[in-house]
Amino acid sequence: MSAPLLEVRDLSIEARNGTAKPLVHGVSFSVSPGRVTCLVGASGSGKTLSCMAVPGLLPQGVRRTGGTIAFEGRLLNELSGEELRELRGTRIAMVMQNPASCFDPVFSIGSHFRETLAAHGGEGNWRVRAEVALKEVGLENANRICRAYPFQLSGGMLQRVMLALALLNDPALLIADEPTTDLDTVAQRRVLDLIDGVRRRRDMGVLLVTHDFGVVARMADDVVVLEEGVVVERRSAVELFEVPEHPISAALVGAHRALCERLDLSEGVGG
Ligand SMILES: Nc1ncnc2c1ncn2[C@@H]1O[C@H](COP(=O)(O)OP(=O)(O)O)[C@@H](O)[C@H]1O
Ligand SMILES: [Mg+2]
Repeated sequence: MSAPLLEVRDLSIEARNGTAKPLVHGVSFSVSPGRVTCLVGASGSGKTLSCMAVPGLLPQGVRRTGGTIAFEGRLLNELSGEELRELRGTRIAMVMQNPASCFDPVFSIGSHFRETLAAHGGEGNWRVRAEVALKEVGLENANRICRAYPFQLSGGMLQRVMLALALLNDPALLIADEPTTDLDTVAQRRVLDLIDGVRRRRDMGVLLVTHDFGVVARMADDVVVLEEGVVVERRSAVELFEVPEHPISAALVGAHRALCERLDLSEGVGG
């Protein structure tokens, strides 16, 4: 297997106000080119903090207190704010759970494309680049979409536009934090298929946060199960679904199986 694109080791994150217990403690995971690593776990288990630490985007009030983050041979934890900003628009892309919060409501979608490209010196042919990027995420009417304001698009469309923006500079790593949680089933499937297609075509590594084991079953190569800020299980998806070791993983896999069986049953009865 190829060398990891991203290797996080022993990551620890604490609240600045110094509560006794770290929020994330000794967390390690990696992402290889063209593969999907899923971070799973209950709400509050440290998934978002673990992935926000990678591109240096921890929220105010928390800080990394230990561990290393290696990406394409560089230690991100040693880079300056400026160097991290440059990486974020180019080699590392992100899509978040709530697309609406990532758009500026007073700017059209087209302005978002122009600004995103301008930030890295490439706004010259922004209309063409936007059209190509929108087509890749299945949005054909680029002119209309570029003229629209964020509030004029549905959640599913906004999520696809966010993905198009994220992919503009051909990132090596996509970090997607619950990218489909707020979407209906059809939009959810579409966004996941898009991410999967881009991963395959561009050999892009994906760090995918989810609490949905259906998404894990569908997308993951490797799975890291977090519980209260620590890794309780880390295995290939195939192994995890065959013999989950930790009770938490077993419960998650069990719940997923039960749901699948129920859906199979209802499909069987209906069909
Ligand atoms: N900015 C913050 N300041 C203080 N505590 C935080 C902050 N952000 C998250 N936390 C705490 O860190 C823990 C992990 O949060 P998070 O990574 O967002 O969990 P998840 O994404 O798995 O739901 C939670 O207990 C949460 O309350
Ligand atoms: Mg989260």
